[in-house]
Amino acid sequence: VILTCYPEMFPGSLGYSVIGNALNNKKFSLEIVNLHNFGIDKRGSVDDEPFGGGPGMVIRPDVIEKALNSITFKTDNYCKIFLTPSGQKLSQPKLNNLSKHDEMLILCGRFEGVDQRAIEILGFQEISIGDYVLSGGELAAAVFCDSIIRLVPGVLGDESSALTDSFQDNRLSEPIYTRPKNYEGLKVPEILISGNTKAIEKWREKKSLE
Ligand code: ADE
Repeated sequence: VILTCYPEMFPGSLGYSVIGNALNNKKFSLEIVNLHNFGIDKRGSVDDEPFGGGPGMVIRPDVIEKALNSITFKTDNYCKIFLTPSGQKLSQPKLNNLSKHDEMLILCGRFEGVDQRAIEILGFQEISIGDYVLSGGELAAAVFCDSIIRLVPGVLGDESSALTDSFQDNRLSEPIYTRPKNYEGLKVPEILISGNTKAIEKWREKKSLE
């Protein structure tokens, strides 16, 4: 479930390629909740000025709580995530851990942020996708969802391929090649066309470590 002020941004990139196929084949489901539906006035206002002054607007805690109360989880195995640059940095081990949940609520911030009491009282984990600032959490949510959905069994065609991803063993992928064998004078490493699967595996292991 994604809580956002900009529901039109979804499924967006999550509607394409392997993740899009998984969505069509119901390997996961996506529910988008528009925060403006829970606004405090007829216009659907969700934000207000920060106490203490400063630029920008802050999303009100009561709006988030009302939106949350409208959601029914199918299981008890869910978590709540607030995407913010001040959260804990996302990594493959963190994703592996979070992927054990059956359901997730993802709150996308906008403006200057979200009232801290909403984060504390409603039990959100704060997660950042990197040390840089986006204009809102929606793109971060797309990154987060893509990287966690590919860990769902059956989402990737080849069951083993999520395990051989870069970072899964604290390693990076080895270089890979396809046709043509000779591209502008640069040849595919001889070993990869040797047919010697044992040797190829060894070479890949070595390159991955490098
Ligand atoms: N919202 C804005 N910037 C972000 C970031 N780096 N990570 C997660 N959410 C964000």
